[in-house]
Amino acid sequence: MRTLIGFTSTYGTAEECAKQLAAQLVGEVDVINLAKEQPDPGDYDRIILGGSIYMGQIQKANKSYCETHSQQLLQKPLGLYICSGRQGDEAAAQWQAAFPTALLEHAQWVNTLGYRYNLQRMSFLHRMIVKKLAKVTQDQDALDRGSIQSLAAAMESCS
Ligand SMILES: Cc1cc2nc3c(=O)[nH]c(=O)nc-3n(C[C@H](O)[C@H](O)[C@H](O)COP(=O)(O)O)c2cc1C
Repeated sequence: MRTLIGFTSTYGTAEECAKQLAAQLVGEVDVINLAKEQPDPGDYDRIILGGSIYMGQIQKANKSYCETHSQQLLQKPLGLYICSGRQGDEAAAQWQAAFPTALLEHAQWVNTLGYRYNLQRMSFLHRMIVKKLAKVTQDQDALDRGSIQSLAAAMESCS
């Protein structure tokens, strides 16, 4: 069983999710930053794709990977995750913007895995945006380790 976890991450949260998922999966697992490398989905038995949301959008490399490889991804067991600070209707709209509808409908596992705000690591512009728009004035760690576990367990139980 060979698993691809392809992620995009600006400040490391979605990357940490990818690594935590990998640690909980059986078999060979490749954790790959899609901004640096876009592997062939055909080389894998199952696939997890994840990224983080900025101004309502997932990173471009994630989008381009899904668009380029959508036909192959539709042939594989698929899990999708995002890291994002919003919930409810706004979160639903973000899911729609992040992944092609066909992949969202095909994916067996779809989870939001929480978020982090690390003000010191952010660029000046990002720090200003989250302070003004999200009213974030100190670091926040809301990574949802329970959902990470659930996503990994769900994938294991169905493979
Ligand atoms: C400048 C900025 C804009 C953001 N915009 C959104 C947003 O539109 N919707 C959302 O749900 N979360 C938003 N977030 C929260 C990020 O998705 C969250 O911090 C996430 O954990 C970042 O993951 P990363 O470290 O993998 O990039 C924003 C964060 C920053 C810093």
